[in-house]
Amino acid sequence: MNRTKIADLLNDPKIGQEYLVKGWVRAFRSNRFIQLNDGSTIKTLQGVVDFEKMDEHTLKRITTGSAISLTGTLIESLGSGQSVELQVNEVEIIGDANPDDVQKTVMQPKKHSMEFLREQAHLRFRTNTFSSVFRIRHAVAYAIHKFFNDRGFYYIHTPIITGSDAEGAGEMFRVTTLDPVIPPLNEDGTVNFKEDFFGKSVNLTVSGQLEAELAALALGQVYTFGPTFRAENSNTSRHLAEFWMIEPEVAFNDIHDNMDLAEDMLKYICSYVMENCADDLQFLNDREAAEQQSKPQNERNELSLIERLKFVTENNFERITYTKAIDVLRNSNHYKKKKFQYEVEWGTDLQSEHERYLVEKEYKRPVIITDYPASFKAFYMRRNDHSEPGKETVAAMDILFPGIGEMVGGSQREERLDILKEKCAAFHIEEQELWWYLETRKFGTVPHAGFGLGFERMIMFVTGMTNIRDVIPFPRTPLNAEF
Ligand code: 4AD
Ligand code: MG
Repeated sequence: MNRTKIADLLNDPKIGQEYLVKGWVRAFRSNRFIQLNDGSTIKTLQGVVDFEKMDEHTLKRITTGSAISLTGTLIESLGSGQSVELQVNEVEIIGDANPDDVQKTVMQPKKHSMEFLREQAHLRFRTNTFSSVFRIRHAVAYAIHKFFNDRGFYYIHTPIITGSDAEGAGEMFRVTTLDPVIPPLNEDGTVNFKEDFFGKSVNLTVSGQLEAELAALALGQVYTFGPTFRAENSNTSRHLAEFWMIEPEVAFNDIHDNMDLAEDMLKYICSYVMENCADDLQFLNDREAAEQQSKPQNERNELSLIERLKFVTENNFERITYTKAIDVLRNSNHYKKKKFQYEVEWGTDLQSEHERYLVEKEYKRPVIITDYPASFKAFYMRRNDHSEPGKETVAAMDILFPGIGEMVGGSQREERLDILKEKCAAFHIEEQELWWYLETRKFGTVPHAGFGLGFERMIMFVTGMTNIRDVIPFPRTPLNAEF
């Protein structure tokens, strides 16, 4: 008999039919009721065994965590909690799980701390919460490809090993085959990277944007979806050293088209998850609601997880300039009562407390902030023609989300060669390092724009998980690269 996946069986249950199912035992009660999960759905299938007909040895081997196959007839369930159950004729043990060992793991069916679950990232897939998160993560990845494919974008694979630093932040991981103990040296004592694998110093990429721009200037509309790496030593709940980014880049788009595209994409992802991940979403929604009960009233979320997704799909994002944001912050009671820790001043970057205030207190919705001062944004962002002297701004946009902060960062790009060269000089970027990027501005340069979506931050939003380490299977953070 062919194996049936539990999701398929439950989607179309045929009472009286024989089924073969395989999976892992979540629980075995009263020597009679087996809860079997095979990963195809959050739901378990209840198998009912007649212990009088079974040999004791096999019965003992059906334990939480063990892998088994069940053959039996599907009947309407007599108990509550499920509508159908499998009346088991045959049990086969595929892989044993020692109960004493299981006891020490996250498979033990009880509440575990997130920290403990992270230490057992190899086993946390077995829990309801993490299996839901990773099924949704898959669905969002697929939704993103579908969104862009349906709009005629091409998926571009940009290099992971790169000699350029797109963001100019200088927080990169070096890639080298040189001997770390006795590297070849130049006469002045510095490492001679001419002898390294690529004949120059290279790093893991922080962004595929610069290469995506090259492609967009021929293919029109492209996007990347790949791993990116940042060696910033920030141990927060929203930063990873290795994360995945989606970076569309579109020829002939200006900053307004760019905002429209990003807003459409974010709404599409939320709709997709509501339509296609209903069981997992409901589970995570209820899990969060239960957790909220133990919090003081004023720390609880105003909206449930599902309500938050719906809210995003049904409401327009607020769009304000950086200058307006500074005004709003300085005029707020919060500011007047000196509740912000950091300075609010035109020309300094917004801190996360400021972003959270705008999103969660002032506008209570996603907010797109545009036209930031040029001084703290990347060199490639387009200089605004309408800048006041001494207050130069660029056509940048950051999209801030409740509970997350910065979800998307993007801009219209500087397409004018002379200004781009000025910017390189101002940012101390050697023109010969980026000769290929500059060259595109010589041959049919056009306005273009793009942005980067932090994939894990989006997964946080759609699952309600509050730590970014819990939405990627094996997180990489400072001092942590286990598994
Ligand atoms: O704002 P960022 O640095 O923008 C860029 O890299 C541009 N090249 C994008 C573009 O215009 N094509 O990063 C984009 C997004 C952020 O908004 C955030 O969501 C996410 O990437 N991000 C991180 N996510 C997890 N861990 C980190 N350390 C992150 N740094 C940025
Ligand atoms: Mg940014």
